[in-house]
Amino acid sequence: MWLEPIIKDCIPSTNSYIKENSLPYGSVVIAKRQTQGRGRRGNSWVSDVEGNIYISVVYKPNVTPEKIPLMSFAAGMAVRNTLEHFGISGSLKWPNDVVAESKKICGIMSELWNGFCITGIGINLKKVNIPYATSAEELGFTLDADAVIEMLLKNLEFEFLHTEDLIERYIPHCVTLGKEILIDGISRATATGIAPDGALITTIGTVSCGDVSVRGIYGYI
Ligand code: BTN
Repeated sequence: MWLEPIIKDCIPSTNSYIKENSLPYGSVVIAKRQTQGRGRRGNSWVSDVEGNIYISVVYKPNVTPEKIPLMSFAAGMAVRNTLEHFGISGSLKWPNDVVAESKKICGIMSELWNGFCITGIGINLKKVNIPYATSAEELGFTLDADAVIEMLLKNLEFEFLHTEDLIERYIPHCVTLGKEILIDGISRATATGIAPDGALITTIGTVSCGDVSVRGIYGYI
């Protein structure tokens, strides 16, 4: 399914590289560092830490906009399962942050582009100086980036090909469910479920992926 990865020392962003070079379905771009790493909702992604993983993949033609959040859910599951393989117990903070010991170890961003889905994944193997972030290193694990990427690509392939029961498999790993949350820093609610399209069901209504920030009321999750 995946083409031979394109590996770059330093580029602005692996997601942008795919678009600028019109890379085909199955492409994988990996950077050792990024100068303009992008995150969800217009945020930037700290990308100057060598040894961390910055990777983007292009998945399947004819992806419709409503499927994009589910591609990120699938990637979140793939990262969670990859970290577990290396001994790190991770969970998913809705919609698709991978967290370990209540801190963010991985961020995922999917974009629709020419009918394809570009999914960008950043995994902190090394320490990043952000209060709510953690890394494999801080959790006591020295992981080889190449080995992690190899397992991640296998797991991504599995998840992208098995989306029919994705939500059912996602739910047991989602730490947001049952928590009191703050939506966009203002509205308090309790997260009660996940809708088939990936939206978060709460006591005050349903929240679509991508629309809002969701934090725990006492901390990041
Ligand atoms: C987030 O949590 O806000 C998503 C972060 C996604 C970061 C990755 S790193 C590889 C890819 N290239 C980018 O510019 N962003 C994604």
